[in-house]
Amino acid sequence: METNSRSLSSDVTRRELLAVTAVTGGALVGGQLMPGIISPARAQDAGAASAPLDVVLRVNGTEHRLTLDPRTTLLDTLREKKGCGLGQCGACTVLMDGKRVKSCLSLAALVEGREITTIEGLAQGADLHPLQAAFIERDAFQCGYCTPGQIMAGVACIAERHAGSPQEIRDWMSGNLCRCGAYDHIVAAIQDAAQATGSVRGG
Ligand code: FES
Ligand code: FES
Repeated sequence: METNSRSLSSDVTRRELLAVTAVTGGALVGGQLMPGIISPARAQDAGAASAPLDVVLRVNGTEHRLTLDPRTTLLDTLREKKGCGLGQCGACTVLMDGKRVKSCLSLAALVEGREITTIEGLAQGADLHPLQAAFIERDAFQCGYCTPGQIMAGVACIAERHAGSPQEIRDWMSGNLCRCGAYDHIVAAIQDAAQATGSVRGG
């Protein structure tokens, strides 16, 4: 089947290497009303210390057995670097059972049994996800800070069939901020990927 996915081949240029790094994410360490979602205040300050909990997390199809402070957010479980940590920027967006969530607002202990997908889980072997490829084609990033969250939210936006027009994409991606102002390119990349996968509303 014809797709616009691109291979993670070794003959990429330096520009492409930076691009691939941005769209495939960083190191894996460990809203909507969904289990595990907490308020920003609780995420920041969850009160007195509690006994560690054994937690089994499924991330990108792999089970991870962890012992965590019950107050640990999903974001802190997944990554060393984080964005605002307050639910405001969208940089921490991951998929939970296919739905987008801000991982800084989710407690890891409360998402046990859920299927978590991060940017590292999008590519199929050496083939980038169509939206990752579109981000490279459209130069849809500059510093790359927001890019993993933009792509995960974009994947959900397409799956929700909210990518029917540039304005619709802007509306449904409004929770993901880009301080570099790459919005036009991000919208174009999402539109390309939606068309490539036939996931445009009414299409
Ligand atoms: S780090 Fe989660 S929304 Fe900013
Ligand atoms: S590319 Fe720099 S914040 Fe979006």
